[in-house]
This record gives sequence, structure tokens and C-alpha cells, in this order.
Amino acid sequence: MISEDNPVTTLHLAIFASGRGSNAQAIIDYFRNHKSIQVRLIVSNKSHAGVLDIAHREAIPSYVIKDRASFEQGKKISKYLSGYKIDYIILAGFLWRIPENLIDRYKQNILNIHPALLPKYGGKGMYGQHVHQAVSAAGEVQSGMTIHLVSPQYDEGKIIFQKTVNINAHEDPKIIAQKVLGLEHRYYPTTIEKYILQHQKTSG
Ligand code: GRF
Repeated sequence: MISEDNPVTTLHLAIFASGRGSNAQAIIDYFRNHKSIQVRLIVSNKSHAGVLDIAHREAIPSYVIKDRASFEQGKKISKYLSGYKIDYIILAGFLWRIPENLIDRYKQNILNIHPALLPKYGGKGMYGQHVHQAVSAAGEVQSGMTIHLVSPQYDEGKIIFQKTVNINAHEDPKIIAQKVLGLEHRYYPTTIEKYILQHQKTSG
């Protein structure tokens, strides 16, 4: 257990991302000089993902998962995470389902961000522009972001934090994406910090 005033240990984050990694960058920036939380590893399933350039620039070790079948077994990635002493997994635009044994092992320690107000606009196939297109097509006048714990079902874990943003009915999905991304960068890092520090206190 750690406390904010007297950290006895550093907690290690692994960020899993499949794309450009703007959330990963925001998280790295936020924790750069943090006293008890450190981004220790970047994991991607795409060898050309922008997030890997960020890892390189930031001198953070990265790992590219090449084989989906082996990822789904969960053994190799689990070993890798142990090697880096990873305490929390942060999903930031990671498109593969997390293997059940990893969810079991990390239980309350895997967070995901979803670019809409769950439980609406979640589930299989609801990622990236698909989400914003659906929100626009439905004529919603509000969208937002959701940070939640990861369960074996897509987008169904306990919700930790949500923030809304006003949009126009049938707004261009690209504009919705921009507005939501602004919220993500602003609130994901601080929510991660708050959640982890609180979770450490209560989980002993
Ligand atoms: C974000 O909108 C995130 O909510 C979603 O995928 C997008 C990733 O963007 N799951 P980036 O790679 O962090 O820029």
C-alpha cells in the first residue's frame, strides 16, 4: 500500500495502444515526473502504430504483439508484463480483446477509455469513427467519454468516470471525435492517477 504523502514504491503502467497514441502521449506527459507512478512499457499489436514512435522518442520500452493466437492464450504477454513489473494496464485505443487470464490476473487493474457515453455506443465494432458516426446518425446533442474497468465483455466493466460534451444534432463525426478527444486528453491521465492512488489505499 502507498500513500500520496509517503510513497514506498513506484507503480508501473503498461499502455496498450493500436493507433497514433495521442492518449498515450498525454499519459506519458502527465506522469513524466510523478513521484509514485511511471509509464514503464508500451504494447501494440501494430508494428507501424504511431504510438511506437512515441515510445521510441520517449525512450520507453515497447513490445509489438505479432501473433494474435498466442496473445489470446495470454502466457507470453503475461510473462512480458511480469518482466517489467507492471502493476496496471492502461488501454488507449487498443483494438484487441484482452485475454481472460490477463483480466483475471490484473482484475481491478486494467482501465479502458471509450469515446462515447457508455452503455450507449459500446460493444463489438464500436471503435474509432464508427462510434462517432453512430452518435451523429442518432442525432444526439451530447456525447462524451467513459473510463471503465475491463471485463471479459467489450465495454462492460464498471464505469469509473464519464464526462459529457455538447454537440449539434447530426454533427460531422470528425468534429465529434475532436471534441471527445479533447476530453480524453484532459481527463484520462488524472482519472488514472486518482483511481490508482485510491485503489492502492483500499486494496492493501
Ligand atoms: C481514442 O478516441 C480512444 O478513446 C479510442 O481510440 C482513440 C485512440 O486515439 N478508444 P489515440 O491513438 O490515443 O490518439
